[in-house]
Amino acid sequence: MGEKGQTIMMALTAFFFLGMFATFPAGCFSDSNQHPQSKKKSVHLASPNRFGSSVIFPVQGNVYPLGYYFVTLKIGHPPKLYDLDIDSGSDLTWVQCDAPCTGCTKPRNRLYKPNNNVVTYADPVCAAMRYPGNQKAKDPNEQCDYVVTYADHGSSLGVLVKDYFPLRFTNGSIIGPRLAFGCGYDQKYSGPHSPPSTAGVLGLGNGKASIVSQLHTMGLTRDVVGHCLSGRRGGFLFFGDDLVPSSGIIWLPTSRNSPEYHYTSGPAELLFGGKSTGVNGLLVVFDSGSSYTYFNSQAYRATVNLLTKELNGKPLKDAPEDQSLPICWKGTKPFKSVGDVKNYFKPLILSFTHAKNVQLQLAPEAYLIVTKQGNVCLGILNGTEVGLKNLNIIGDISLQDKMVIYDNEKQQIGWTPANCERLPRS
Ligand SMILES: *[C@@H]1O[C@H](CO)[C@@H](O)[C@H](O)[C@H]1NC(C)=O
Ligand SMILES: *[C@@H]1O[C@H](CO)[C@@H](O)[C@H](O)[C@H]1NC(C)=O
Repeated sequence: MGEKGQTIMMALTAFFFLGMFATFPAGCFSDSNQHPQSKKKSVHLASPNRFGSSVIFPVQGNVYPLGYYFVTLKIGHPPKLYDLDIDSGSDLTWVQCDAPCTGCTKPRNRLYKPNNNVVTYADPVCAAMRYPGNQKAKDPNEQCDYVVTYADHGSSLGVLVKDYFPLRFTNGSIIGPRLAFGCGYDQKYSGPHSPPSTAGVLGLGNGKASIVSQLHTMGLTRDVVGHCLSGRRGGFLFFGDDLVPSSGIIWLPTSRNSPEYHYTSGPAELLFGGKSTGVNGLLVVFDSGSSYTYFNSQAYRATVNLLTKELNGKPLKDAPEDQSLPICWKGTKPFKSVGDVKNYFKPLILSFTHAKNVQLQLAPEAYLIVTKQGNVCLGILNGTEVGLKNLNIIGDISLQDKMVIYDNEKQQIGWTPANCERLPRS
């Protein structure tokens, strides 16, 4: 704090590159996008009821062309449905709110209507909101205001409220705990990109204000969140640890050095095709709210140089006319999927030097997209350019086709290859 420019960045998330894709209707996938048969495991429920139970949500969305993944949550009594962007880069869940609203994108009848259910400053959930304005001495009976500012400079301002969240647990029980969340009545969306079509954000960060942390405090689930995002589309999300396989997961300790960022780890070394790139000491953030992966300037330059060198003499040419992403290549004829080009690209690896050399493998599928024009583009962007300083963000593109588990009790993050298209039975 105190550093210029670092104000209320309690959240790191959501680089919506929607504007670029806005002309393409979501979900209009061709069958050619189908992944080849893979030997990925499908997920089965482990022993249930180790601690309360779990909740599983189907996930919709994709990295390209939509740019985000979301779940549909029921809130209120009688419940209404809200599409929420899933974001492991922030804590607070909020919905667009009719209070009345500035910057809401949903029609009025789809907004959340507060009903004398405002949370006051005296509530511990309010104290868990770590933004500077909240540290001022306030009348404990006053309403708990919040502001969340995202790394893309978008923001939501509003008031905390409490309402029922009807949830179906894996043990069959349906319970509707009253949870605190943000009623956002002043949203700003940054830059040239059009605002998302979701009604808000589901914060999966490890702070006390998150929905999962509240469920944990009530004794309903473990303080564990996981997601499985399919590279084709959709996937699933879970609260609790029933779905976490007992073996086969790569676990990485997360650090608490950087309070405004969640699920940070490092230092990591960048390898290309199994060989050192000379880039190390990378601080890495896992952020499902970001569509793409961001490297700092040094790692980005090394990656671009090495990829360009590898493509020398291969039938891929620069395609600057494709505006989908900063760097694209075209072939002699349009590509249908990353599978058509993956032989020209080597895997990138982040090797975590502090954790018995735990490695996050980024196969070509984890850093390339094929655009509507049939070109292949680099889904790793220059983070320094968007103001991320030295941080490196692992976004959705690199989290696909893996079960990713954020264990807030043991402060570790884990992953394992998985078939995310099949929703586990509960
Ligand atoms: C199912 O799990 C919920 C949440 O942990 C718990 O409150 C409830 O008592 C459990 N129901 C049964 C029948 O065990
Ligand atoms: C990344 O962005 C920074 C800041 O705009 C710029 O100085 C740097 O040259 C860029 N790196 C590459 C490799 O393009």
